[in-house]
Amino acid sequence: MDGNGRWAAARGLPRTAGHSEGEENIARLVRVAVRRDIGWLTLFGFSTENWVRPRAEVRHILGLHEKLFGRIAELNDLNVRVQWIGRPFDAADARTPRYVQRAIRKAIADTSANTGMVLTIAFDYGGRRELCDAVERVRQWHLPMTPQSITDHLYLAELPPVDVMVRTSGERRVSNFLLWQSAGAAMRFTEKAWPEFDEHELERALALVT
Ligand code: IPE
Ligand code: MG
Repeated sequence: MDGNGRWAAARGLPRTAGHSEGEENIARLVRVAVRRDIGWLTLFGFSTENWVRPRAEVRHILGLHEKLFGRIAELNDLNVRVQWIGRPFDAADARTPRYVQRAIRKAIADTSANTGMVLTIAFDYGGRRELCDAVERVRQWHLPMTPQSITDHLYLAELPPVDVMVRTSGERRVSNFLLWQSAGAAMRFTEKAWPEFDEHELERALALVT
């Protein structure tokens, strides 16, 4: 979900306003995706690299994740099950504050009975780090090092392979997102910033795989 800052700057607004609008757009897009019968929607909310941003911006983004994971009534109405991928909270270098951890755990628990779309939010996530952690676990358990054993030890083993990967805001390069899971995925690049990624944009992406 790239381009929140540029979306705001183009309107003479502070970057934080772009992040807030980006969060609102998640709520909108989840509705659209559910109506479209999508099984799995995974969004890159915050990366292991994003912590170097100015403190005030990081604090604002953390607050928005608390808000997002707090949309439990809405998600239950939509029969959406929430999941999270990211660096484990107990990792030595993990930085997720307790209140965000709590919001994540609560959203997962309170939507766990839902049978519809699985909405996975990547928070404090890095694809390379996920791979290192998976390899480490395969080694710890003395398992043979195979594509399957690595797949089984990713952060969220239930996450299926990616069908279509979308990058917003005119970025035409691979990011550190679901590197392993996106082997063979179709790629959709759009000039639209995340806050303006709408139903029409989703259709354009889905057209690559349906
Ligand atoms: C994406 O928007 C939001 C996060 C990475 C948290 P950006 O903040 O990267 O927006 P631009 O790239 O500056 O426009
Ligand atoms: Mg950016």
